[in-house]
Amino acid sequence: MSEHVRVLLTEKEVDDRIQAIGEQVSRDYAGKQVHLVCVLKGGSFFMCELAKRITVPVSLDFMAVSSYGATTKSSGVVKIVKDLDETVKGKDVLVVEDIVDSGRTLSYLLEMLKSREPASLRLCTLLDKPDRRVVPVNVDYTGFQIPDEFVVGYGLDYAQRYRNLPYIGVVEFDD
Ligand code: IMP
Ligand code: MG
Repeated sequence: MSEHVRVLLTEKEVDDRIQAIGEQVSRDYAGKQVHLVCVLKGGSFFMCELAKRITVPVSLDFMAVSSYGATTKSSGVVKIVKDLDETVKGKDVLVVEDIVDSGRTLSYLLEMLKSREPASLRLCTLLDKPDRRVVPVNVDYTGFQIPDEFVVGYGLDYAQRYRNLPYIGVVEFDD
């Protein structure tokens, strides 16, 4: 079976939106240092682009949690594969994610981070699929709300491929 990718959001649309979020974050965190927590691997492209557009002091850390395997279905299991290097205690933490889908990953992660006593805790996601929500999640910054379709690019993968696409696309299977 072969597949192709249909463009959903162009590189310019994504970059323009990230610029606007960067400006918003810079305003909201004026006078503070924002500690970006990236959820690997999907959030990494978005985090880099966002960080470059934030004008207040920025520090970064990374964590990895288990999510989808090689399929497009959620396992529903959330496991910390790589924890943060530094403490978040007393920091103004902004979690940067690629996509909020069922909400399982983020609701778990946010609860876990909250227990570590950051000064503040917010969530920024490039994409949101609200129709798919199973667990409620409070999203503070959203790039785009998208329909219930499986997307790739800008860090998002299908079976570990397509993360490097500079736009967001929908995987379509040819028969
Ligand atoms: P959750 O269902 O909200 O817990 O999302 C878990 C993870 O699934 C996300 O962080 C993504 O890594 C992945 N995911 C969800 N929807 C998509 C998609 O459309 N394309 C690629 N990955 C996705
Ligand atoms: Mg993710």
